[in-house]
Amino acid sequence: MVIKSLVTGGAGFVGSNLALALEKLGHQVVVTDNFQSADMKNLEGFQGEVVSWDVSLPHSFSQKFDIVFHQAAITDPRYPNDEETYSKNVEGFKRMIELADRDGAKLVYASTAGLYGNGSVPMKESQEKQILTVYGRSKLKMDEIAESLFSKRHIVGLRYFNVFGPREAHKGRPASMIYHLYHQMKLGKRPRIFNWGEQIRDFIYVKDIVTANLRAVEAVSGVYNVATGVGTSFNELVKVLNEVMKTQLEPEYFPMPYDAKTYQSNTQGDTHWAEEKMGFKAQWELKKAIQDYLKWLQENE
Ligand SMILES: NC(=O)c1ccc[n+]([C@@H]2O[C@H](COP(=O)([O-])OP(=O)(O)OC[C@H]3O[C@@H](n4cnc5c(N)ncnc54)[C@H](O)[C@@H]3O)[C@@H](O)[C@H]2O)c1
Repeated sequence: MVIKSLVTGGAGFVGSNLALALEKLGHQVVVTDNFQSADMKNLEGFQGEVVSWDVSLPHSFSQKFDIVFHQAAITDPRYPNDEETYSKNVEGFKRMIELADRDGAKLVYASTAGLYGNGSVPMKESQEKQILTVYGRSKLKMDEIAESLFSKRHIVGLRYFNVFGPREAHKGRPASMIYHLYHQMKLGKRPRIFNWGEQIRDFIYVKDIVTANLRAVEAVSGVYNVATGVGTSFNELVKVLNEVMKTQLEPEYFPMPYDAKTYQSNTQGDTHWAEEKMGFKAQWELKKAIQDYLKWLQENE
């Protein structure tokens, strides 16, 4: 029997990678997006139906779904309208629960490591949350709603750490550091990073994010980190990029333009729950993932 999957935010970064991968696996995939921060180019080669829909508004689908992968959200933590960020993200999530309930579908959705703020590392799912932005608050609300449903339905939230990979160009400033630094270095420019490059991120390749979504379908309801468990400083990241690109460009440091109170200086995920409860372990080591990604960029830009 063909599995029918819905991917919201499917013309965005993670959603498009997921939709294309699901189609390759033989799913019948419907993509929805309101095209707020998306690019149809991301869906090149996609054969399924694409529906224009703002997930926070009513919509009736004639077809039924087996799995809903909910990626749609206002994803820029610095989006200027806080009220819109919160209401679209939370109301959109409630609609997805309604839709999944209508069909008795499994529901997998994207949460974020942003809600750990500047909490202790490695960041554990159960630790106290530190909300730095309205975006983080909207995702925490989604996780709380999900938690109230764990005993009633399949619902899995995935707290992605810092995702990078193909099909993120449309995001502009919020695209990954790897995307931005590569483009500076490709032009022979020194990679610009904040003083003094000691900030740390748990960078995870989008191909691992796709795998985590697939594992989540079979997992017991819960909210899990999707991380590598490895923290990499911005200085280390520049070194890896220099190795892969065969360049020797020294970082150019500049003062952090953001309020330190809203900026995460260190993210590194604890991966135990994801391993135990979803059987998920990231497979892409940073240097290998960057090699794979830069090859894709060279072939596709
Ligand atoms: N990329 C990351 O590093 C990262 C980290 C943590 C969590 N996430 C989460 O992963 C999911 C995917 O993020 P992404 O990086 O692919 O971002 P993205 O901005 O590329 O994708 C989000 C998509 O949702 C669409 N969208 C926004 N609001 C919508 C609405 N109301 N109705 C319908 N579509 C809407 C946008 O047009 C876009 O295509 C998001 O939920 C995001 O919060 C991403």
